[in-house]
Amino acid sequence: EVWNPNGKYRVISTKPMPGTRWINLLVEQGCRVEICTEKKTILSVEDIIALIGDKCDGVIGQLTEDWGDTLFSALSRAGGKAFSNMAVGYNNVDVNAANKYGVAVGNTPGVLTETTAELAASLSLAAARRIVEADEFMRGGLYDGWLPNLFVGNLLKGQTVGVIGAGRIGSAYARMMVEAYGEFLKANGEKPVTWKRASSMDEVLREADVISLHPILDKTTYHLVNKERLAMMKKEAILVNCSRGPVVDEVALVEHLKANPMFRVGLDVFEDEPYMKPGLADQKNAIVVPHIASASKWTREGMATLAALNVLGKIKGYPVWSNPNQ
Ligand code: DGY
Repeated sequence: EVWNPNGKYRVISTKPMPGTRWINLLVEQGCRVEICTEKKTILSVEDIIALIGDKCDGVIGQLTEDWGDTLFSALSRAGGKAFSNMAVGYNNVDVNAANKYGVAVGNTPGVLTETTAELAASLSLAAARRIVEADEFMRGGLYDGWLPNLFVGNLLKGQTVGVIGAGRIGSAYARMMVEAYGEFLKANGEKPVTWKRASSMDEVLREADVISLHPILDKTTYHLVNKERLAMMKKEAILVNCSRGPVVDEVALVEHLKANPMFRVGLDVFEDEPYMKPGLADQKNAIVVPHIASASKWTREGMATLAALNVLGKIKGYPVWSNPNQ
């Protein structure tokens, strides 16, 4: 799909993105916008090299793509100056390689903070109250009347919520989970909710009843939650991951879920997306959703706009709007 065919700057989006604001913005500033409508979900390096072609000023890409040396050298050969991930995470981008070829890199923080935190909060509550299991039970025609023991879950009131990676999203999650409940408790004249900064990650793992993971993925956070750390957690704890799959050792997690039926997880991300490790899908104590934490209309349009601004800024000679290097 091509917009403004005679535009001076050629900007490629490797995927159709929500809304038209991002397209208008680029077109108004003299760009020819090419949107790849290829049906396959994940584009290979070769696919993207073909898209870049001989002349390309900037690319908006996706977290499913491997933006390393090969692609940045191809983009730079085509005269490209800017690349933006349409994501806040940029573990798929080799920023050093981009620097080497003089390509500026952008990402899309801010616009997805609350949307992502809302999904983490939703997964926490859904896991606590076994909502997905109960929904499957209803749809399976298995409900034949109220029972005292039917889908008994955890009450979050009075429990400890732990956040690992208290950046923008982790802090927003904490506010949603803790402050909202705190106000409710205060209004009822009950003991207010308190905050504390844990002295170590292991302390969070040992003490929290619900733990939400929000670190970036890099060498230091790969398999941050491994077999040993899972064993530190309470037997009835809830673990939520809306960060990146490899932050959790998924094979160890499957074993832990099998051995501890009262332990629950809410996962938005997986080690080898789009796949789940064998056995995970069979676990009733796991809620799994397909990497949708930022999937609200407002946020996805905002991400697309921010990604376009990143690329446009650089093409027009300004610093990249949102640069993970800064
Ligand atoms: C991101 O932005 O990094 C998410 O994983 C997708 O919104």
